[in-house]
Amino acid sequence: MLISEFVGNTPLRQCDALSTRYHTNIFIKEEFHNPGKSAKDRPALFMIQDAIARKKVKPGGLFVEASSGNTGLGIAIIAKKLGYRAKIFVSQSCSEEKRDLLIKAGADIEICENSNGLHDFNSTQFRAQSFAASHPNAYFTNQYYNTQNIRAHYKTTAPEIWKQTGGNITHFIAGVGTGGTISGVGRFLKEQHPNIHVWGVEPYGSILAHFLRHRTLPNNIAPFDAIEGIGRNFVPGSFDADYVDHIFQVNYRETKRVAKEYYAQTNIMTGFSSAAVVASLDRYADMMDFTATDNVVLLFPDHGDRYISKLYNGSVQQADTSSRITSFNF
Ligand SMILES: Cc1ncc(COP(=O)(O)O)c(C=O)c1O
Repeated sequence: MLISEFVGNTPLRQCDALSTRYHTNIFIKEEFHNPGKSAKDRPALFMIQDAIARKKVKPGGLFVEASSGNTGLGIAIIAKKLGYRAKIFVSQSCSEEKRDLLIKAGADIEICENSNGLHDFNSTQFRAQSFAASHPNAYFTNQYYNTQNIRAHYKTTAPEIWKQTGGNITHFIAGVGTGGTISGVGRFLKEQHPNIHVWGVEPYGSILAHFLRHRTLPNNIAPFDAIEGIGRNFVPGSFDADYVDHIFQVNYRETKRVAKEYYAQTNIMTGFSSAAVVASLDRYADMMDFTATDNVVLLFPDHGDRYISKLYNGSVQQADTSSRITSFNF
């Protein structure tokens, strides 16, 4: 069986607890059913297939990526299956569970100071790019700027959601990291019906909400709440603002609280950024203004078993930076 047959075609399930709470129909796109247990298997597969088709790397060669863990895992699993190797540059904030999984999947990993983008010499992106450029038969898949990232979601995630909702989706809400998911799904949905609401979620302090409203960077770029997989202090090329209506910001504390509450209520452990999406409903339900006939799809990119140490154990230690955000234009 081809690897492409294992990736995607994930279930969409109605969430009774959230539907009842918000008096609407809420569905979860469960991306943790992918082979690498995350949505990022989709861009990983598209980027690898594209590089092989364009002869960017020869058999046995090395795929290099900068990743918070999930894209790296997708790259590692798919590369191995196809007879290639993987080297993944992760930031310090990558959970221990994800580091272990990467190593078990056969990837070589390097831990970097941050994931602040190509302009920062200590970032995962800069180090991954430099490494690939200075080693033969190595290819930097570069999810932040590779058009295959958006394309993977445009060609697979979005049509699946469209079919699974019978074309009756009214809202799509997903966390934003590289922007590939929201941009690819958003573009497809807006092409079907421009009135479908496409909303992103990011941590407080991240800059994409500001960029979407003003098309400029904020004057002060501050550290943002650490919610793994989402939030940036640069605008990735994989974020296409034309297909996103709004970005909601949530904080670390409420995300952690909501994850625990959701688990207690549904027995489902959400991933960190999935919990952030649920937290956005909690905080902004009044603005979102759902009706009883709406069909709202939340994308859960991965599962809580990747964040037991960070999300489900212990207390909330990180400072809440939400006070820095003073106004919100909806
Ligand atoms: C757990 C998690 N959530 C959300 C995202 C964001 O998805 P995207 O990069 O498509 O914006 C990522 C990306 O790596 C992720 O790993």
